[in-house]
Amino acid sequence: MMIPACRLVDLPRGEAHRLDIDPPVSVFHTEDGELFAIDDTCTHQDASLADGWLEGCEVECPLHASKFDLRTGAVDSPPAKLPVRTHEVVVEDGVIHVRLSAAAPNLPPCVAARLAGGSA
Ligand code: FES
Repeated sequence: MMIPACRLVDLPRGEAHRLDIDPPVSVFHTEDGELFAIDDTCTHQDASLADGWLEGCEVECPLHASKFDLRTGAVDSPPAKLPVRTHEVVVEDGVIHVRLSAAAPNLPPCVAARLAGGSA
């Protein structure tokens, strides 16, 4: 499924844009002009990676400083252990779209329970 995120001109380099879907997805625009989309929720606990720090092709979680590679979703720095899911980014007519991955997300247990309708 392809979801429109925002216009490219509205997402400056060094910034992130969060899509409030379940689970939320964020698009990052690196200082080098590349675009990446990953699940917004850290795989360690319930923190928004869009609120973290973007450095090169890495984002640092604002809560406990895990680092994720935006290209692959891999964990570059603990305490997170599981990679974050990545999504394809497509720009059409100046609008950034996210093609959602069909893979299962690696959500922290508290968030997975909430999305499943249970109590966190
Ligand atoms: S919530 Fe991201 S590292 Fe702990």
